[in-house]
Amino acid sequence: MRKKLAAGNWKMNGTAAQLAEVKTLVDGLATTADVLLCPPATLLDRMSTVADGKIATGAQDCHVAASGAHTGDISCGMIKDAGGTYVILGHSERREDCGEHSDVVRAKTRTAHGAGLVAVVCIGETLAEREAGQTLDILAGQLAGSLPDTTTAGNTVVAYEPVWAIGTGKVPTLDQIQEVHDSLRAELTNRFGAEIADGIRLLYGGSVKPSNASEIFAVSNVDGALVGGASLKAADFGAIIKALG
Ligand code: PGA
Repeated sequence: MRKKLAAGNWKMNGTAAQLAEVKTLVDGLATTADVLLCPPATLLDRMSTVADGKIATGAQDCHVAASGAHTGDISCGMIKDAGGTYVILGHSERREDCGEHSDVVRAKTRTAHGAGLVAVVCIGETLAEREAGQTLDILAGQLAGSLPDTTTAGNTVVAYEPVWAIGTGKVPTLDQIQEVHDSLRAELTNRFGAEIADGIRLLYGGSVKPSNASEIFAVSNVDGALVGGASLKAADFGAIIKALG
């Protein structure tokens, strides 16, 4: 059985004052699911302390190298030093803002695996790609390109995040989510075999809220969510975690 995962991505939001939300979340936590928060790098160390081992923490990106002359970047070793155990890779905002293509994401994912971090690898189609009927092909290409051969059930989570659903309030239909998640499971099985593929958690992300979480979590092959905006408030993220069980 795959353990459910509620993952929060704070993106470029949050200063020390917002750690009170994490304290509230931790104090009220009653779930069998794994819970993860990925704050900006500036907060990772302090958030890990507040999380107190009850929720996992992680970063929103890493560099492929262990150290060196890479101004502004952080390494997997630094993430671990700050208490992080996960790293989000290939988020569509990084693919767009920083020109990160799947080959870069694959190299970073391999680095994360080597460092002992769990990689949350994000893929997603644009609205134009969906309207052109290319969704499954685009996602299969991103999945194949972004995952290295070091992928296992324990070191990798895949997040399906339609670009057009992120931060927009728009959500695919439940049938659309199911079609994608079933197809991703099949792609993973083809490449890695059933044992690894059956253990890899598939998250849905894009405008997940307390009001739609339960119905999304009831879709087969949805093992949790990657949540942006609604992960910033303990009340909202707590409700989403509750919907997960
Ligand atoms: P959102 O973001 O929940 O604010 O739509 C999701 C994400 O980008 O991970």
